[in-house]
Amino acid sequence: MRVILCNTYEELSKNAAKLVASQICLKPNCVLGLATGATPIGMYEELVRLYNAGEIDFKDVVTFNLDEYYPISPDNPQSYHYFMNQHLCGRVNLAPENVHILNGETDDPETECDAFDALIESCDGIDLQILGIGRNGHIGFNEPDDALNTSTHITDLTESTIEANARFFDSIESVPKQALTMGIATILKSRKIILLANGKEKHDAVSQLLTEEIDTEVPATMLKVHPDVVLICDREAYGDVD
Ligand code: F6R
Repeated sequence: MRVILCNTYEELSKNAAKLVASQICLKPNCVLGLATGATPIGMYEELVRLYNAGEIDFKDVVTFNLDEYYPISPDNPQSYHYFMNQHLCGRVNLAPENVHILNGETDDPETECDAFDALIESCDGIDLQILGIGRNGHIGFNEPDDALNTSTHITDLTESTIEANARFFDSIESVPKQALTMGIATILKSRKIILLANGKEKHDAVSQLLTEEIDTEVPATMLKVHPDVVLICDREAYGDVD
């Protein structure tokens, strides 16, 4: 795993955006896997800036989001549909038919998840997947467990994730208790992966990832089997601070 250590969140965001922009320049109809949460917001800001400067074009880019709360309406400001529209899709020329986000209102989560994996396959897989990391080491919403689901699936969120994400909701009670998420195999099939981590609250998860064996109780350690992962993190997450 290659590590790009950054001094600031701005530097982290610019480095991540530079790699995404290069992917788009190299393959204008590339398939991107995208994450939500606080960490990639700066990267999306920078991508929008590059788009407005005429440096990248999203016309033929296809996107698949990692996950969505369940149940949730796409109009809910806390939904990942809303997030993506606010931070990227509504601000660049991504074609709506090329944007794929799991439907948090489906009555049939299993069929929704199977169809999502099949659609990724039919697009010849994900070229570049962006990931954040949970404080407990989750990626997507693959939570620590004694076994991990490989394909896209519905999952219960852990107390720690519900608490961490409560900052985005009016109250902890309004955080959905479940989510639909790409599975570990879906993520690992991506040709390249960029993992973003910033802030001291991510330090434990990042150091477990870098120093420990593969362990389903720290789902991010599964990334160790992938040949092309770049971790872009700040010094607080890395633990390299005075
Ligand atoms: C979001 C996702 C999650 C987040 C993780 C970190 O699509 O899949 O795994 O990446 O919870 O979230 P932040 O960036 O808010 O700390």
